[in-house]
Amino acid sequence: MNPVPPPRKILVTAALPYANGYIHLGHLAGAYLPSDMYARYQRLKGRDVLFLCGSDEHGVAITVTAEKENVSPRDVIDRYHPANRDAFEKFGMSFDRYSRTSTPLHHETTREFFVEFHRRSLLKQKSEKQLYCEFDRMFLADRYVEGTCPVCGSTDARGDQCENCGSWLNQTDLIDPRCKICGRTPVVRETTHLYFPLGDFQKRLEEYVKERNARDGWKENVLRYCESWFREGLEDRAVTRDLSWGVPVPVPGFEQKVVYVWFDAVLGYISAGREWAKEQGREDAWREYWQDQNTKYVAFIGKDNVVFHCIVFPAMLMAWNDGRTDAYVLPENVPANEFLNLEGQKFSKSKGWGIDVRDFLKYFPADYLRYGLATSLPESRDSDFTLRDFQARVNNELADILGNFVNRTVAFAYREFDGKVPEASGTPGAQDKEFLARLESAPGAVGGLFERYRFRDGVAEAMNLARAANKYFNDQEPWKTVKTDREACATAIHHCLQAVRTLGILFEPVVPHIAGAIRAMVKADKPGPGSWDSAGKPALKTGHSLAKPEILVSKIEDAQIRSMMRDLGLEPGPPSLQAHKAQQGTMITIDDFKKIDLRLAKVVGAEKIQKSEKLLKLKIQIGEEQRQIIAGIAKTYEPERLIGKLVVVVANLQPAKLMGEESQGMLLAANDPEGRLSIVTIEDELPTGSVVR
Ligand code: 2FM
Ligand code: ZN
Repeated sequence: MNPVPPPRKILVTAALPYANGYIHLGHLAGAYLPSDMYARYQRLKGRDVLFLCGSDEHGVAITVTAEKENVSPRDVIDRYHPANRDAFEKFGMSFDRYSRTSTPLHHETTREFFVEFHRRSLLKQKSEKQLYCEFDRMFLADRYVEGTCPVCGSTDARGDQCENCGSWLNQTDLIDPRCKICGRTPVVRETTHLYFPLGDFQKRLEEYVKERNARDGWKENVLRYCESWFREGLEDRAVTRDLSWGVPVPVPGFEQKVVYVWFDAVLGYISAGREWAKEQGREDAWREYWQDQNTKYVAFIGKDNVVFHCIVFPAMLMAWNDGRTDAYVLPENVPANEFLNLEGQKFSKSKGWGIDVRDFLKYFPADYLRYGLATSLPESRDSDFTLRDFQARVNNELADILGNFVNRTVAFAYREFDGKVPEASGTPGAQDKEFLARLESAPGAVGGLFERYRFRDGVAEAMNLARAANKYFNDQEPWKTVKTDREACATAIHHCLQAVRTLGILFEPVVPHIAGAIRAMVKADKPGPGSWDSAGKPALKTGHSLAKPEILVSKIEDAQIRSMMRDLGLEPGPPSLQAHKAQQGTMITIDDFKKIDLRLAKVVGAEKIQKSEKLLKLKIQIGEEQRQIIAGIAKTYEPERLIGKLVVVVANLQPAKLMGEESQGMLLAANDPEGRLSIVTIEDELPTGSVVR
């Protein structure tokens, strides 16, 4: 018999944020929340995880801030590094190590790579034209120069990168360059730098991306970015800078220059591992992850970092590995998220638009924010975070679905079964069997989505389980059977309590505090390695005692949102918020509302409309009457999925023709800004034709 292979070690990194400002919600939605959900999930799967991050403390991002604030770069990083480390901790990030790149150990790691490349004559010395400010008497490295991007035309492109289109630039390509310090137009002067031969790695990098994508399914957006760089062709890149803040170049003749920040930043992940190992008292333990080719290394980032993680960093590691036996593992996947906007506008420090994590957490618990962000992650395109959606997610899902199910179940058992798990002695019916099967398959369904970096869908799947659990509770009507059929009642509550425990594990990666409180209510064991796979099995024994039920999630009041926005200077809001308010401002009377005849209807037939991608033809039953409604929901719903659904329709809308078909009413549905849609349905089976108000 073959021995069972040991589970792969999993190395998780999240982009090192610059220590020149506070972490905001956009950062969390980019690299941090997804990486934390992934690390927490993998630990519950029983995998050996090392999760690393830290502050990026070099480069022009830091020195420009220092100059603006008239302090030293050291002052800047010493202010923001601890603040961000603490904010991450409050948010519930479960890093094994949160390091920083100003440490001697990190300088040593950077030197090792640099010296090794130099020793093997990989780095080419070249004199090239660079932008020089005659007024400030300095070469304008990276962010010291701004201008118009030659690729997309954005006027705010920086010397090395355009944030708008993500292009990695050579500063001399900038159109109308201007010195960031004095605003003057720089001149072109020659300077000598060391270049990394990125172009020589192009073929291998293309192979690498292809192979890893085939193995682990890279995200479309990431592949698109890579392809466009490959198409343009990779070129040698300068890895030294004429600056005084950074890792001094360890090559004779270059001591006055520093290593390019991106060369050292990506190595910061390795230094963080070395620091972690040192802390463990096992100095070489980091090699068990970084230098074991069986490790699965996943690097979480935001979209503006793709080139550095999919091209530059792998090329550096390949270069190292070529000449050494202590070879590093390359990223198996680089799940990059797009950007999160706030109320329809980009986060912008200069325009004062954004919410810092430390501020947000003064108003709401971290888990509320985690859930609000997890349900709006910009996984495939930019997404929008609005406070109204946040409030609705917390109130309608976290409180009303998850919290309510846990609370009503435990409260019921507490009241009727002496605070113990009752015996499931009744003969299981079809609904019981279906529910138990659903519980059993849930960890696989949610976990499968997390494995594929589809966190938003994974969280939705977990919430769907809570929804199904509420439905089971409703269908079983234990408040009735407790008087008429105590055995059936006990069986239903037994199953519901098992579901509470399941939810207490499946929600751990998303909302760890709430999940802990859920498990505490049923006094479930602390989940350990491997708990995920058995989360769907009924583990609570009959007679197992329960804790006193507590309210898990309290709802967010409008006034709380308003006061946070006022305090944080987010009012009056940007155009989208104002539009929302204007809409709110148009008040209608109750008589206006009564003019709309909303009715409960059942879908009894549904089919696609030829030549239309969007429209479905529905037959609906409203009381005695059947009607035809044409609804623009074909992109979201397969016709079969709609049959039997209880929906809400506007019954007194003037008939209209759509694609030649008459529509005798309108179906209510919710839309989000990304065009996702969900029809309005009714929880309990009331007769069709019932008035909705
Ligand atoms: O974009 C940024 O905030 C960079 N500081 C990310 C660096 S990621 C890694 F290379 F360290
Ligand atoms: Zn200048």
